[in-house]
Amino acid sequence: MNRIPVKVSPPYDVLVGEGLLDRLGKLTAPVASGRQAALISDDTVAGLYGRTARQALEAAGFQVCEHVFPHGESSKNLAQWGQMLEFLAENRLTRTDLVVALGGGVTGDMAGFAAACYLRGIAFIQVPTTLLAAIDSSVGGKTAVDLGAGKNLAGAFHQPRLVVCDPRTLDTLPPSILADGMAEAVKTGIIGDPELFALLNRKALSRDDLTEAILRCVRVKAGLVERDERDTGDRQLLNLGHTPGHGIELLSGYAIPHGQAVAMGMIIMARAAWRAGLSPEDTTPAIRDALELRGLETACPYGARELAQAALSDKKRQGGSIALVIPEAIGRCVLHTLQVEELEDFFALGLDAL
Ligand code: NAD
Ligand code: GLY
Repeated sequence: MNRIPVKVSPPYDVLVGEGLLDRLGKLTAPVASGRQAALISDDTVAGLYGRTARQALEAAGFQVCEHVFPHGESSKNLAQWGQMLEFLAENRLTRTDLVVALGGGVTGDMAGFAAACYLRGIAFIQVPTTLLAAIDSSVGGKTAVDLGAGKNLAGAFHQPRLVVCDPRTLDTLPPSILADGMAEAVKTGIIGDPELFALLNRKALSRDDLTEAILRCVRVKAGLVERDERDTGDRQLLNLGHTPGHGIELLSGYAIPHGQAVAMGMIIMARAAWRAGLSPEDTTPAIRDALELRGLETACPYGARELAQAALSDKKRQGGSIALVIPEAIGRCVLHTLQVEELEDFFALGLDAL
């Protein structure tokens, strides 16, 4: 078992290892003071891993109640979140009890936000079952639901007490959902780990390679969260490709999934940064090769004007300016502030294939 500490207040561990789901109860007991655990998952994950998680928790003495909601981003809304809160109240969870978020980023974000608000905050743990959740959303304490006006517009910072990742659960992921997570893994390599980037350029990835990639991603993310828990500085580097990516998601009516949109967005950013003279080297070919090898599309189907307009509805905008993440080299990115009026021209540089 691998253990990566996240040194925020209070600190917590990310545990990564094959077979950890079977030991969920034993691993959880030391971080829980109460005996009741609310196991929350979507209907797909509940069918695959709900029983194992429940049995493991019960074997360690937890009294388990289970809440299942329909899978998919369309469930990440106030109505489903309200049902989670009602479920916690109906089952009389107390301040010492625990929420267990078993699933992908939708489950972790929504169950985490329910834990943040129920009784003004109770403990929760993350048990990620998608690659995206394992390497990104389960770590760092950002919890949220979507509103009609946009994604993740209501939420809270609420750190988990523990993250338990069993890479075996990733075996059942459909290829497109695995590829979505790969986009964020490639992104993490570009932000801060050239060896991770090289690992992700191997033709075939073994289970050990995947575990190694998860560990490397979590280390990079934990470091950024420790430096900037509230996302006012360096943590924003995790948004590489997300400004155009957000616009792409929105313009597609969310038919293009998040990771896929971020992959296209990273190409736009790399090419634009090089052409605008903001980057000393052209990282575009290397990034494109890595993303395509991992099964991702890299050509954006939208034009600069519509993309800029859509991107500017994102919450990353700060008044008249926007913070962009510029890849200077594989393994090194910097933040660069741009006036909102300049965004369309910047995207045009990134879209024009020449
Ligand atoms: P998801 O939770 O919807 O999971 C994707 C799909 O995979 C779902 O249909 C789910 O049922 C299925 N699934 C999950 N695990 C499975 C498994 N092991 N086998 C088979 N199917 C499985 O989506 P996601 O891609 O994990 O996460 C996306 C969400 O994460 C978005 O809402 C995004 O906003 C959020 N996010 C949050 C953060 C953060 O820091 N909090 C960071 C990045 C993304
Ligand atoms: N996924 C971005 C963050 O956690 O800050």
